[in-house]
Formats: sequence, structure tokens, C-alpha cells
Amino acid sequence: MTEARDVRVGIIGGGLMGRELAAVCGRWDLLVDHPVRPRIVAVADPAPAAREWFSRVDSVSRLTDDWRDLIDDDGMDVLYIAVPHQMHEEIYTAAAAAGRDFLGEKPFGIDLPAAERIVSAIDASDSFVRVSSEFPFYPGAQRAFAYAESGALGDILDVRSGFWHSSDLNRAKPINWKRRVETCGEIGVMGDLGLHVAHVPLRLGWVPSTVYARLDDVVGERPGPDGSPVVCDTWDNALLTCTAHPRTGRDFTMLWETRRIAPGHVNTWFFEAVGMDGGVRFSTRQPTLLHRFAVRDGEQIWEEVQPGNVSAWPVVSGAIFEFGFGDALLQMWASYLAERDGALNGRFGTATPAEALLAHRVFDAALRSGRAGMPESP
Ligand SMILES: NC(=O)c1ccc[n+]([C@@H]2O[C@H](COP(=O)([O-])OP(=O)(O)OC[C@H]3O[C@@H](n4cnc5c(N)ncnc54)[C@H](O)[C@@H]3O)[C@@H](O)[C@H]2O)c1
Repeated sequence: MTEARDVRVGIIGGGLMGRELAAVCGRWDLLVDHPVRPRIVAVADPAPAAREWFSRVDSVSRLTDDWRDLIDDDGMDVLYIAVPHQMHEEIYTAAAAAGRDFLGEKPFGIDLPAAERIVSAIDASDSFVRVSSEFPFYPGAQRAFAYAESGALGDILDVRSGFWHSSDLNRAKPINWKRRVETCGEIGVMGDLGLHVAHVPLRLGWVPSTVYARLDDVVGERPGPDGSPVVCDTWDNALLTCTAHPRTGRDFTMLWETRRIAPGHVNTWFFEAVGMDGGVRFSTRQPTLLHRFAVRDGEQIWEEVQPGNVSAWPVVSGAIFEFGFGDALLQMWASYLAERDGALNGRFGTATPAEALLAHRVFDAALRSGRAGMPESP
């Protein structure tokens, strides 16, 4: 076993996701023989409560209200940038201009022009940058990806990739920045959930060539800080019917579904692909199972496979204990930091800036399609 080298991490944005990273670092010993070990050494957040929360993390020696302090500080190897969407462009481009390696949160810019400028800045830099998308790291999702990638499906017929939750089912839930165009972006739910849905298809080379979108703004206002109604102007649900253009073979139909209001689903990420020779289905709703289709001896068989907790990065608890959201984040960070270290060794990599930009092109086409009522090209 090799001694893991420390990677000093600075967090810009110590909210929900910044805190999730603190939890990931706390569980790092779950990993067997990973080449590096992240330690959060600094946090930048203008909110005093966020800085106060991180004062409990022993490894943190610097708390600041100004994100520029961390961009200028050479005492960090990697930044994790997890801020509201209207801040992405300014902070990501500054990090790239300073040559900082970072994991940026999705959607990677509030809109397509912002994403284009961010990716240009990264392309012009030496920074190693990836984009957060953790669900494909579930063991069942890894198996589904590998099966689809193997060619076992034959000519693809239909693909569905979706993320459904019901966080907004309650009309009395107060407004927040994720429900306002100015801070979340006009793409709304696609900015929140879209990259999660796009990551696996794009990695398989299934790129939408046309998009027909059904966009739904279900709840038009929500209680503001004083309880009075405030406009809630982002799309709640988006159904994108795409023509997918694979690297080889014929075009096929692919649905990308992102819903903040999907009654009956608390947090369901799923991926399904069916072809002439095989099929595969995985959903976090049944995280221990994977379904596979094949034609054998003239019979059409959907079989249930228990992939076990065989994660890309092995863990001390072995293959038996069930996998959850925190494990997916741990695996994603293991992947990002190993890839940065040149040690990915063929494993599944974290979403790339190019994939985030492609996803933005699709979401932009979806907005145009929603306005025009007809298919649009990304
Ligand atoms: N990968 C995932 O599963 C996942 C889940 C939720 C959110 N996200 C993404 O993470 C990002 C942050 O979302 P969140 O849920 O953590 O939001 P949050 O509101 O919980 O936290 C955002 C934090 O950013 C801070 N902030 C605001 N302006 C800042 C600035 N100028 N400099 C530094 N910090 C600033 C806020 O004070 C807050 O603490 C978004 O891009 C969001 O889409 C990803």
C-alpha cells in the first residue's frame, strides 16, 4: 500500500455542497489505496454562518469572505467552487486565468454564452478542471454504462436519462436562489439537474442533433422572506425529446427528463437504453439492482442483476454494504483527484468542461424549442 499524498483543497462557497465535501473528506479512509488524500485548508464565503460552520473542521486554517483571496493564495492545490449560478463565470474564469486546478459545480455557467467563455478560459490555461456529476458513480450506473459502451445493445432504439425529485411539490416552500432566473438561469431545472442527465449519454457519444422541448413552469410564485408571494420564474420540469446522433450507427430517440416536481419521487436518477440486441436499466430508486435485456435461444429476457457495492474505487467495507449519495460523491472526488494525479487508469472520469458545454448547447436549444414550439438544433 502506498502512502497517500495530501492535496490541499480550498472551497469557494461553503453552502450545501461545500459542506458535503467536508463530509467526503471525513470519510476518505473508506477508500482503499487511493494515491492522494484531500484536506480542506481554506473556505471563502460571504455568509458568516457558512464560515462559522467550517470553523469546526480541524484542517481549515483560513476563513475569508472574499473568494479572490483563495484564487491568489498559493497554499492550495485544488479549489472546489460551489456557488450560485450567476457567480460561475466570474469565479471559474478567474480560477482558470490564475492557473488553478478546480472542480466546478454544474451547470458550469448560468447560460450558454457564460459556459462558452468559461470553457475558452480553461482551454487557454493549464488548469485541470472537471465538473461535478456524481450519480454515474453508483456501482449499478457504472455497470449500465459499461454494458452500453460494450456494444452489447446493438443498434440503439431508445434512451431515457432522467432525474426526478419532488423538492418543489410543496407550494409553501419558500423561494430561494435556485428558483429565480437571475441567479439560477433561464434554463431553470435543466441548470439544476440537466448535467446529471447528460453526463452518461454524452460520455457514450450520444449527442443530440435535434431537441423538441416541453417546458413546464408549474408553481409561479412562492413565499418570500416575509411570507408574501414572490415570483418563481424558472422552469420546474423539462422533457427533452432528442434525436441522438451516435458515433456509429443510425440516429435514435433519446429523452432527457429533469423534474423538480415528480410526485412519488424524492430523488430518482435513472438511465435506460434499449437496442436491437440488448438493453440496460438502472435507477437510484433501486440502487442495489441493475436490469439487463438480451435475446437468448429466441426468448426475450429482462434479467435482474445485483451488482453489489463494487465501486470504481474500492472501499474497506467491500462489496456488500449498500451504496448511497455520499458514496457517489466520495467516488466522484476519488475519480477527479486520481485523474488529476494521472492515476485514473481507465476508470470512469468526472464530467469534462467540454461535456458541460455540450449540455448547455442542448439546454439552449431546448429554450428555443420551448419558445418556437418546434424542434431546434443545439
Ligand atoms: N452536484 C450536486 O449534486 C449538486 C447539488 C446541489 C447543488 N449543486 C450545485 O452546487 C452549487 C452551489 O449549490 P448549493 O446547493 O451548495 O447552494 P447553497 O446556497 O447551499 O450554497 C452556496 C454558497 O455560496 C455562497 N456564496 C454566494 N456568493 C458567493 C461568493 N461571491 N463567494 C463565495 N461564496 C458565495 C453562499 O453564501 C452559500 O453559502 C450550484 O452550482 C448548484 O447547482 C450541485
